[in-house]
Amino acid sequence: MAMRKISDVNKQDLIGKYILLRDDFNVQIVDGKITDSFRIDKSMETINYLTENGARVVICAHLGRPKGEYKKDLSLQIVADYMNVPFVHDCLEKDFLHDMKNGDVVLLENLRFYNGEEKNEDDFAKKLSDGFDLYVNDGFAVSHRNAASVTGVTKYLPSFAGLLLTTEIENLTNIMQHPTRPLLVFVGGGKVSTKLTLLKRLIHIADKLVIGGAMGTTFNYARGYNVGNSLYEPDMKQDALDIINLAKENNCELYFPLDKGVGKTFSNDAIRTNKSIDEITDDDVIMDDGEKTILRNAELLKDAKTVIWNGPFGVTEWGEIWGRASFDFAKTLAQYTREQKLESVVGGGDSVSVLNACDVMQDISYVSTGGGAFLEFIQGDILPGIDALVKNNIKLDL
Ligand code: 3PG
Repeated sequence: MAMRKISDVNKQDLIGKYILLRDDFNVQIVDGKITDSFRIDKSMETINYLTENGARVVICAHLGRPKGEYKKDLSLQIVADYMNVPFVHDCLEKDFLHDMKNGDVVLLENLRFYNGEEKNEDDFAKKLSDGFDLYVNDGFAVSHRNAASVTGVTKYLPSFAGLLLTTEIENLTNIMQHPTRPLLVFVGGGKVSTKLTLLKRLIHIADKLVIGGAMGTTFNYARGYNVGNSLYEPDMKQDALDIINLAKENNCELYFPLDKGVGKTFSNDAIRTNKSIDEITDDDVIMDDGEKTILRNAELLKDAKTVIWNGPFGVTEWGEIWGRASFDFAKTLAQYTREQKLESVVGGGDSVSVLNACDVMQDISYVSTGGGAFLEFIQGDILPGIDALVKNNIKLDL
């Protein structure tokens, strides 16, 4: 069974329809300002498509994890202001629907101010669906959550995939199923424990798997190197060794950091020194991959035809000094993509922020809006939000 797409609905049938649209506007906000509007900007295509075709569009979304309580700093008002659309202060409010005209858009307040959203309470899903003719899920980045606005509402409304969700699925499926080889995957970020399934799956798919950042530190620890006073997961030692064995059995070449950028304290203004992994001492704090590793990664890119990148190699939020390995990598990846030497796919909030900071977003072949959803999708999981669309067969009332 295939998922129904909003682009398959006859445009005439959208005129005057009340549409509940799920978007992912879980964006980074610092000092009351949206610092990365990528997810909102990517949602505009579906919003414009629906309004241009005369629908009445009510967007629902979440911000942060308020756990069922109103929190002023997690209000979506800031997103409504950014989009310049009217804002409804309670996501279960319905009165405003009568005043909406064809082509209007409004944004509802944070769904997670109600417990029913994350708990996927049926009563909440039913109330949320009330008054709508159909539901569109365009929030790929939240489709791994079994929440009321992602799966619950599909029990009550004819449900369709939006344009962004469709594009994400098509692009990521294509890259995972038919990559031009060699396929190189670069994985960084903090925790091996959150990416175990991903690593195991990648070993079966990738020709070369490069593990960097704090994850690389855990692997180096498992391989017997001193990792000093750094962020790593000692409990993951055996899992890391199992992954190394699995890679050998499956002829997937594994690469780890050769050297590291270290300081003496975990702070932005620590002095950066470069040390080979066998020179690291107990009082060193690893905060980035090192110079030889940066060169090795750039060299690896020369032979790649497809590259997937998820997760930073250092503390990128501190800028150039401790983000050097990621920033240099992003620039080289962008350059080779521009020169059509390879196809690149990047997913995950921190890696996407690096692309933004380096101003190379437009050069990458495909940038996913997903964080956790991107990981779960490429590790082969069935995302509940997508599954719910596949199973939905409620007829659209014309
Ligand atoms: C994300 O930012 O990855 C999604 O919006 C999901 O957010 P969550 O991890 O808080 O459920």
